[in-house]
Parts: sequence; structure tokens; C-alpha cells
Amino acid sequence: MGSSSSREARKPIGPASGRLGILTPGLGAVATTFMAGVESIRRGRSKPIGSLTQMATIRLGKRTDNRSPLIKDFVPLASLDDLVFGAWDPIPDDALTAARKAGVLEEKDIEAVADFLREIKPMPAVFDNRYVTRIKGSNVKQGKTKRDLAEQLRQDIRDFKARHKLDRVVIVWCASTEIFIKPGPQHATLEQFEKAMERNDEAIAPSMLYAYAAIMEGVPFCNGAPNLCVDTPALLQLAQERGVPISGKDFKTGQTWMKTVIAPGLKARMLGLAGWYSTNILGNRDGEVLDDPQSFKTKEESKLSVLHTILQPELYPDLYKDFAHVVRINYYPPRGDNKEGWDNIDIVGWMNYPMQIKINFLCRDSILAAPIVLDLALFSDFAQRAGMKGIQDWLSFYYKSPMAAPGLQPEHDLFIQQTKLKNTLRHLMGEDQITHLGLEYYA
Ligand SMILES: NC(=O)c1ccc[n+]([C@@H]2O[C@H](COP(=O)([O-])OP(=O)(O)OC[C@H]3O[C@@H](n4cnc5c(N)ncnc54)[C@H](O)[C@@H]3O)[C@@H](O)[C@H]2O)c1
Repeated sequence: MGSSSSREARKPIGPASGRLGILTPGLGAVATTFMAGVESIRRGRSKPIGSLTQMATIRLGKRTDNRSPLIKDFVPLASLDDLVFGAWDPIPDDALTAARKAGVLEEKDIEAVADFLREIKPMPAVFDNRYVTRIKGSNVKQGKTKRDLAEQLRQDIRDFKARHKLDRVVIVWCASTEIFIKPGPQHATLEQFEKAMERNDEAIAPSMLYAYAAIMEGVPFCNGAPNLCVDTPALLQLAQERGVPISGKDFKTGQTWMKTVIAPGLKARMLGLAGWYSTNILGNRDGEVLDDPQSFKTKEESKLSVLHTILQPELYPDLYKDFAHVVRINYYPPRGDNKEGWDNIDIVGWMNYPMQIKINFLCRDSILAAPIVLDLALFSDFAQRAGMKGIQDWLSFYYKSPMAAPGLQPEHDLFIQQTKLKNTLRHLMGEDQITHLGLEYYA
């Protein structure tokens, strides 16, 4: 672990007592599916499938010790009963209307929690069409400068906390993907960032204002979209100074999750790769936003980075030099949220013989993303109580394009990410790391 996620030694981990607020910029498909799901679980209508914090166990000690508690029994995490939800969105629909429009859940599942969803009404958003071109919204804050807007978000966080008598708050960005922005001098230091907000510099996107507001309020921030947002030196510096955990970018759900499962398998067996062609059709609002080439570019960058870092062509030129990697997303309205992805993988074996793997994944994006939102919120809250701050490398497991310390390659391999996550929990709870050496069983 780098110093950015280091824990101050000997500091006891704060308890998970009291209520935890989870705020989402964006009350669309992912956010409403997440909120409806948590309430459905609380009412005993479903199980938290897909969530490590709720369902996974963690092995402690030797294999012969038979100690494998649930993560939630091992680590002090907020209980689902203590979660309170809020959101911002430029579209004024409450969570019930938004869930119906998103078309992810069936009416019977929405109806069962309708009273709960109806009460979640989005606060006016910081929104600007220049950064997300395909959405029109009326529920938008006004402010002279971007700094004013960030201050209004800070006030929203304080009001939300007071209104619901919350002990702690976490923010998870579930809003649309913004256009591609390259990190520039405006993002280099906190001072430059603040000056850029004051002069309404174009390089400061709305998502950055939410991240800034969160960190200023001591609220952990997770970025579920691929836009730059919290991934800048300025905001990293602020998070370090204020003792706030941050993580991102881009929830690792369908096709990229598959890539991070298959590619480590190919590499483990030293099989070559000639090319990987991925294409998708999806018809939800996210698909519509991604139909804009500038938003797609942000997504494409995030999706493309995965294979190179897993396969390490610089170490294995005979296997992975110059493979072709193409990613396409096609907006196709009849599909709604039920995306379909096709992967054609051209692999190379013994004596250069070519082989192919085809994957046809009929996935439901928001069904895969919702438990990720839950886990990120609970783990980020835990991280803060454990004295962790800055980039949370151990949460890379959940992201397509994980943030990493400057100069460090992010880790993409799902299995290394899982080991890192579990070992971090063991470390924080004072348990031994598991090396899988195993010689002790054969002495
Ligand atoms: N669904 C997945 O599996 C998945 C995976 C990875 C990343 N993501 C990302 O998560 C995000 C949400 O996905 P979704 O399917 O829920 O999209 P969605 O279009 O259904 O919802 C996004 C919502 O964000 C709102 N919004 C846009 N700009 C905003 C702003 N500045 N402040 C507050 N709200 C704003 C929109 O009005 C919309 O209601 C997208 O960026 C998407 O790329 C989703």
C-alpha cells in the first residue's frame, strides 16, 4: 500500500454506530436500482446478491483453522438498516418515477418499495450541458462562479446530515459520463484548482465540484463513472490533508469485468493474444449519453486501458506485442438497460496455432452495478473510520480504471484485486496476511 492509503498506526477503528447517509450525484438507473435493492433486502424480499460486504466470507489463519467469517461479521461495517439515501439530479423526478423510467426493475419489484422510493427527491444539481450534452434538466443550481456552486453543494451535505440526524455521509458518483477532459495546470494543485473554480475555468467539470465539496466536508467520495472527477493531483492533495478516502473510476460491471477475468487466465497459461474485439448494444440513458462521441471517448479510454496493464506486453513481447483491441458501444433503444455484449478473442497457442473464444454476455448493467455502489459506500465509510485517507488502492476491485498513486500502474487483474482487498481487511483488523504458500501443511 502506498502512503496515500496508509493508516495511522495504533489508531483504533471507530465504531459503525449511528446512521450513514449515502448521497449520489445522479438518480438514474444505477442509483435507483441500488436504493430499491437495499430497501427490498431490508424488507426481506431479496438477498444482497453480488455484494461482498453482505455475502462474502474471508478466510483467517490456516486452512485447518476453519475460520471463515462473513466479511460483515469480521469488519465493523454500517448495517443496511442504518442507511439513509439522498441524491442530486438535474431531472426533478423522485426515485420512484426515475426507477420506472430507467426500466431496469419490473413493476412488481418497484411497487413493493414504492412508498420508500417516492420520498427520495433529488436536490438541484450542479449541471452544465457542455459536459453532458444529451440531458436536459430543470432542477439545476444557479451560481455566479463554480466555487459558489461547490459551496452550495457543501451546504446540501450539511443540511442532509442534519435533517436525517446522520453520523456520517459517503458520496458515490452515479451521474452521467462527462466529456473527456485532460488533466491540466488547473488540476495540478489545490490553489490552482480553487482559482480555476473562481474564474469559471472550462477545465473544471461539475463532477469535480461534487468531489471538492465532499472532501471539504470530510465525506469519502467514490467515482462510478470514467470522467476525471476526483482523479487529479489537486483533489488528491485535499483528500490527504483532510483525511478523506477517495476512489474511482468507472464501476467494473459487464464486459470489462469479463476481460479482467479472462485476460489473467490467458496470461497465467502463457497463451498469446492477437486481438480482442468487443462490441455492445444498449438502449438506456447511459447509452444515449455515450452516443455522444466526447462522452464515449471518456468511456473508451477507461475500457481500453485494461488489457495492456494485465498482459504486460513489455514483459511478454512474444505473446502480447501489438495485439488489436477495439471497443464499440452502440446505442440501440429497444434494448433498454438489458445490454448485450459480444467479444471475439483471437488467441495464439503452441506453434503459433490460432484459436478463438467468443463471449456473448446478456447482462443487466445496473443489476451488476448496484451491489458495487453498496460495497463502495460501506467500505469507504469503514476506511475513514480506520484512519485511511487518499486513494483507496484496495477498492480497485470495483473499478474499470482504478486510481493509483502517481507513477504507479493501476492493478487490473480481478484476482490480484480481490487478494488486495481481503488482505487490506486482514491488515486493518490485525490478522495475518494469507500467502497461499501452504508448505506448513506438508512438513
Ligand atoms: N450501469 C453500469 O453498469 C455502469 C457501469 C460503469 C459505470 N457506469 C456509469 O454510472 C453512471 C450512471 O449510469 P446510469 O445507467 O445510472 O445512467 P443514467 O443516465 O440512468 O443516470 C445518470 C443520471 O445522472 C444525472 N446527471 C447527469 N449529470 C449530472 C450532474 N452533474 N449532477 C447530478 N446528476 C447528473 C442524469 O440526469 C441521470 O438521471 C454513468 O456515468 C455510467 O457510465 C454505469
